[in-house]
Amino acid sequence: MPTNRYAAFLIVATLLSGCGEEPKTPATRTEAANAAPSDAALAQVYANSCQLCHANPAAGAPLTGDKKAWEPRVQQGADTLLDHAINGYNGMPPMGLCMQCSEEEFLALISFMSGQSIQQ
Ligand code: HEC
Repeated sequence: MPTNRYAAFLIVATLLSGCGEEPKTPATRTEAANAAPSDAALAQVYANSCQLCHANPAAGAPLTGDKKAWEPRVQQGADTLLDHAINGYNGMPPMGLCMQCSEEEFLALISFMSGQSIQQ
């Protein structure tokens, strides 16, 4: 029956449309929104700068704790990550809006956000 075929097509189309780029799971968003470095001083810096974008899915920044999003970036190596954090990179503003941050702090913040130890 044509009606059934149409219904089957709709189901297949719905299933296929779910196969595109994986959307960020709500868990990742919530995790990103609630995450904070355990070090109090670093947590303060994070809250005043990186968090504004890296915990906001609309900013286009790799979310804190989203290992998948950070993986290709981490593979660039610590030098490139540090260079992009300090000098900026597309939508990533120079110094990530933390003008007083040291290289050590940037490395600690990137380690925290990517969930991996980033060292030079
Ligand atoms: C105004 C928003 C904003 C703030 C604040 C911000 N970032 Fe970003 N960041 C971005 C965006 C957007 C990207 C993705 C850039 C791209 O890949 O095009 C990004 C990417 C990055 C990357 C990956 C660069 C690469 O080579 O892939 C690092 C590292 C980074 N940010 C570190 C930081 C740190 C550390 C802070 C806090 C000190 C910070 N960011 C604050 C928006 C921001």
